[in-house]
Amino acid sequence: DAVKRYRIAVIPGDGVGKEVIPAGQRVLEAAVAGHAELAWTVLPWGSDYYRQTGAMMPPDGLEILRGFDAIYLGAVGDPPHVPDHVTLWGLLLPIRKAFDLYVNVRPIKLLPGLQGPLRNKGPEHIDMVFVRENTEGEYAGAGGRVHVGTPHEVALETAVFSRFNVERVVRYTFELARTRRKRLTSITKSNAQQHAMVFWDAVVAEVARDYPDVEVTSLLVDAAAALMVRAPERFDVAVGSNLFADILTDLGGALMGSLGLPPSANLAYNPRLPSLFEPVHGSAPDIAGRGLANPIATVWAGAMMLDHLGETEAANRIMTAIEALTAEGNVLTPDLGGTATTDQVAGRIIELL
Ligand code: NAI
Ligand code: MG
Repeated sequence: DAVKRYRIAVIPGDGVGKEVIPAGQRVLEAAVAGHAELAWTVLPWGSDYYRQTGAMMPPDGLEILRGFDAIYLGAVGDPPHVPDHVTLWGLLLPIRKAFDLYVNVRPIKLLPGLQGPLRNKGPEHIDMVFVRENTEGEYAGAGGRVHVGTPHEVALETAVFSRFNVERVVRYTFELARTRRKRLTSITKSNAQQHAMVFWDAVVAEVARDYPDVEVTSLLVDAAAALMVRAPERFDVAVGSNLFADILTDLGGALMGSLGLPPSANLAYNPRLPSLFEPVHGSAPDIAGRGLANPIATVWAGAMMLDHLGETEAANRIMTAIEALTAEGNVLTPDLGGTATTDQVAGRIIELL
């Protein structure tokens, strides 16, 4: 059958992004070999580009990205040389907004052979997927400062929840639940936030009527944080606002044992626009340039990208190889207690494919 060709924009970015992205590309190439062609276009955008041009990407950067099937991103951030709000608002946030990347999907799974920080909790207890609202909520950017510089200065940060957006994010999560254990947890705070979160609960209840086969639990965000530590096995899929799910997925990453492990998929609502796949972690300047970075988060994000593109069999083979690697336990980077380099881990994953 015909070999499919996918056009992928690659933004390694800064720091360890430049190490884990090439490692990820090698693994993805090996996984699709003979079935599909990955046509990479590497875009040298980020903090070096900023130092040369005064911008994180060219003025027509979004137009350039628009034509691709997907975007594979490492990380951006070069503290203390470039301020973090410049790197974030200069590249990643404009992409999320321009392409309406409405959900941020973050699997949280303890991989076989690895020791997480929770005593008596193994891979059979920690296996969930968080869906984070990705375009509005507490990070909508609505607000302002009044009486600036005076003793009675006021700052407003207004959370924005629209029916159109909450409904599509919740619906995505119900569909995802159907592909898993059919248990959905909605993260709320409707006791204290009597407007937006009562609305959130009402939308969840409305959408739930279309999914009678999915069991729904509503948890207050603080209680959810405690439960993730006490009984992570209660979670299958969870949906939360931009802020709540941001915080809970960092907790989730910690449950996995290293920030070098969790991936994320930023999915476009319009399937004709490119979705973006990246590790959850940042540019890790403390370890950058020394081959110490764990490539698993980026390889896993690449598997999510292949799955999204329709290369499900290759995606599943990558996940099986990652699990075989951690189960073996002898080719791991220092964050997992090993001595292997980024490239050695990628190489072993390719052998295990
Ligand atoms: P970070 O995720 O870069 O690093 C936090 C800790 O995790 C560090 O000790 C680091 O060594 C470790 N770590 C991260 N990735 C690792 C990997 N692949 N293997 C092994 N260890 C790893 O977060 P930090 O230090 O708060 O931020 C550094 C820069 O990254 C900042 O400029 C920040 O704004 C940016 N950042 C960018 C993100 C993105 O592009 N999506 C996401 C998070 C942070
Ligand atoms: Mg975060």
